[in-house]
Amino acid sequence: MSLNPCAVLQQISPDRQAWFDAVPETPGFILDEKRLAHNLDLMNEIGSVSGCRMLYSIKACPFTGLLQRMPGLLDGFSVSSLFEARLAHEVLAGAGGLHITTPGLRREEMAEIAGLCETVSFNSLNQLQRLAPLLGGRAKAGLRINPQLSFLEDPRYDPCRFHSKLGAPLPQVAAQWRSGRLAARGLSGLHLHTNFGSSSFEPLQRTTAHLEAHLPGLVAEVEWVNLGGGYLFQASDDLRTLFRVIDHIRREWGALVYLEPGSAVVDDAVMLVASVIDRFESDGKSIAVLDTSVNHLPEVFEYQRPPRLLNEEGDGNHATILAGSTCLSGDLFGEYRFSRPLEIDDRLVFTNVGAYTLAKATRFNGHNLPSIYCLDGNGDSILLKAYGYDDYRRQWSESGTRHRQPKPGAGQVD
Ligand SMILES: Cc1ncc(COP(=O)(O)O)c(C=O)c1O
Repeated sequence: MSLNPCAVLQQISPDRQAWFDAVPETPGFILDEKRLAHNLDLMNEIGSVSGCRMLYSIKACPFTGLLQRMPGLLDGFSVSSLFEARLAHEVLAGAGGLHITTPGLRREEMAEIAGLCETVSFNSLNQLQRLAPLLGGRAKAGLRINPQLSFLEDPRYDPCRFHSKLGAPLPQVAAQWRSGRLAARGLSGLHLHTNFGSSSFEPLQRTTAHLEAHLPGLVAEVEWVNLGGGYLFQASDDLRTLFRVIDHIRREWGALVYLEPGSAVVDDAVMLVASVIDRFESDGKSIAVLDTSVNHLPEVFEYQRPPRLLNEEGDGNHATILAGSTCLSGDLFGEYRFSRPLEIDDRLVFTNVGAYTLAKATRFNGHNLPSIYCLDGNGDSILLKAYGYDDYRRQWSESGTRHRQPKPGAGQVD
């Protein structure tokens, strides 16, 4: 089987299943170029209509085959580490700005980060105090605030959960502002990221109003506000609320507004095609084992959320548990219904897997990572990336050097 990058495989069939059956190797992620272009157009339009700047949060999927399709359509990228910043900087090649926020900023990385990023939003008041002076006037200093207004029931992905580590708690920021200490830190912007998968912009409206009520002096001072990600623009019938929020901030606070979506840009632009490799009954239930696992879609396991399956026939008579092929008993995708029993080599397609899948995927049990194909505008599929044993071997090969620990007493003169 040829894994020649960029080899055109075949013309898409009118029958979608036939097309998926023709993907040469599974498991494979399929990047739908048309859908991605549609999402980027939408982001671009939201930016133009509202006057805000749109960044793509590359943590959702930092695959360069995807990033390279974005410069010119978005205003830049948002990143959460030095490595993401280096990669994003390379891909952008000057065609946009980089914004960073993370609880993981390290003193020794600040000089390079300041050279790569336009803004650095510090995650705590302590981080701001210790690390802002290291920006050397290059990147603009911002502060991520935790407004302590929660909109999510599950604390595992609620940035405003009790005892949150994400952002400076609002009362502490207000106290520092009142005491005049914050003004001395050279702060030029604020960062908020408080939601996850929301199609309503009401939480954003309530959050910004809350901030304005508690920090009127500070919001009037800042040059820019980054409203984070966590919103699904495609699923929303409420874009007017978003536009009102942005307009209000621009006019009343006099600040430039940034949004940094991840999922909204890529999630529905990627599918995962897998094959059935075994089938049997267990305690009266049909089990189909796939050549993928929850290690390729880690959020299925983390949040116990069954992924959407394109082939599912809701009224089918054959309920089947789709299982991953690792040793973990909980490596399960969920129970789905089909109109016939699944057979070995059947191809199944999970949709909406562009965000936080590839970025978190692992080779647990020595299973290869899925290849990445692109479904282009003509309906052709193109192999963009394939992994093999060499990649696995490199990951697990020893390559360290000895670090000599100072001996107790060494270097001391009696
Ligand atoms: C600070 C920040 N900005 C943006 C995003 C992107 O969020 P989403 O992919 O939900 O749009 C995240 C996601 O965790 C985030 O932590």
